[in-house]
Amino acid sequence: MTRRQFNMALGATAVTASALPAVGRAETPDALIAQPGLARLAPADYPETRIWGYGGTAPGPVIHVPQGGRLVRRFVNDLPQPATVHWHGIRLAKAMDGVEGLTQAPVEPGADFLYDLTAPDAGTYWYHPHRRSWEQLARGLSGVLIVDEAEGAPEVDRDEPLQISDWRLTQDAQIAEGFDDLHDRAHGGRIGNWITVNGTPDYRGTAHRNERLRLRVVNASSSRIMVLEASGFDGWVVALDGMPLEAVEPLGRIILAPAQRADLIVDVIADQGEDAYLAMLDRDGGYQIAAWSVDESARSERLPAPEALPANPVAALGPLDTARTADLRMEGGAMGSLSGAIMNGQMTSMRDMAAAGRVWAFNGMAQMSETPLIEVARGETVRLAIANDTSWPHAMHLHGHHFRQVLAEGTLGPLRDTLLMDRGATADIAFVADNPGDWLLHCHMLEHAAGGMMTWLRVT
Ligand code: C2O
Ligand code: CU
Repeated sequence: MTRRQFNMALGATAVTASALPAVGRAETPDALIAQPGLARLAPADYPETRIWGYGGTAPGPVIHVPQGGRLVRRFVNDLPQPATVHWHGIRLAKAMDGVEGLTQAPVEPGADFLYDLTAPDAGTYWYHPHRRSWEQLARGLSGVLIVDEAEGAPEVDRDEPLQISDWRLTQDAQIAEGFDDLHDRAHGGRIGNWITVNGTPDYRGTAHRNERLRLRVVNASSSRIMVLEASGFDGWVVALDGMPLEAVEPLGRIILAPAQRADLIVDVIADQGEDAYLAMLDRDGGYQIAAWSVDESARSERLPAPEALPANPVAALGPLDTARTADLRMEGGAMGSLSGAIMNGQMTSMRDMAAAGRVWAFNGMAQMSETPLIEVARGETVRLAIANDTSWPHAMHLHGHHFRQVLAEGTLGPLRDTLLMDRGATADIAFVADNPGDWLLHCHMLEHAAGGMMTWLRVT
């Protein structure tokens, strides 16, 4: 497999990035400042990329919180537009969920907001804006959030977060504009032309043979579905979307929709002098996105297989046959049959929808409805029947809860916060609505959310 970046159309001559406005606010330990910065996303013969980042870096800092502990950050907005922070996958109090217009007013440029939340579940999460997220994430605002196990953390030699980002760069390695592009919205979203792992196109570490790593893989892209394969590693998937699997699963091909995470425990089995690597597969084959040079053995033999991670305190589902139910029909997009949907209280033609940037609908609504998809009492088990009546895959994300897919014969899938649904697919998801508040349910292909794929639930 050769190392290459696909579709990469950077020109041969480097262009110097123009100077950035100076940002003068001092970082205090509990501040999280969103601000412009420069990042070395492209190789050294290209200019640095002007990004927006937490702490001015892309990705932002890896944040650790002990399970059950508090995460307190004063979010400071030094961007030229309003912003919020959403702590993706954390089952937190509604006021801290960071959703513009639903849980808080956006933080204006120059203003700040104190996020103070408790993280009940150990695992791998991430944070990103929830206001013009399709632009703000694409400019670099995202970071990994790790909630460390209170007890029962697996024994590993090293714990490595791997945030995979998909950038759309211009010839001089700058972030391409066109965030509201209707073609992207109506198709597969803003798919980039440049992949980084932890902000670098050439992620390389070292590892010892027979060393055991915990790799926390995060798909932090706007819309790219990632298909990954490991080589020179043997191991297990131990958690998805932060939540431990009840039994560890042998490592195979990993598919991550936007916003999904996988925790892997892997042993280095490549020989000294070889590489262990992670590859991203696409239509034309695949390419390495992260590599580890393997040197002498850490131990003479591999460690015994790991146990499952300790379960998080997620309520068990109540009876499914008496659960509260709602249907959600996803329609629209290119090659779809949607002719119109409700916008601003009126039936609106697809053409007029498109003029307003809306090309999708949930239950015939091309924008957030004033009333929730369903209103349930705290503690009720909820079952949603979702139908993807479009020609595109979607990544359905529920805020404030993790859910399980109800599979054939009543078997249940793993706890997740984001579900990849293929074109034409249906899925039944169930969860205990034990977190009071208003919670979004949307496609995490961010251009799709911008284009109408958003609804919400109320738990009273
Ligand atoms: Cu990753 Cu609505 O969020
Ligand atoms: Cu979608």
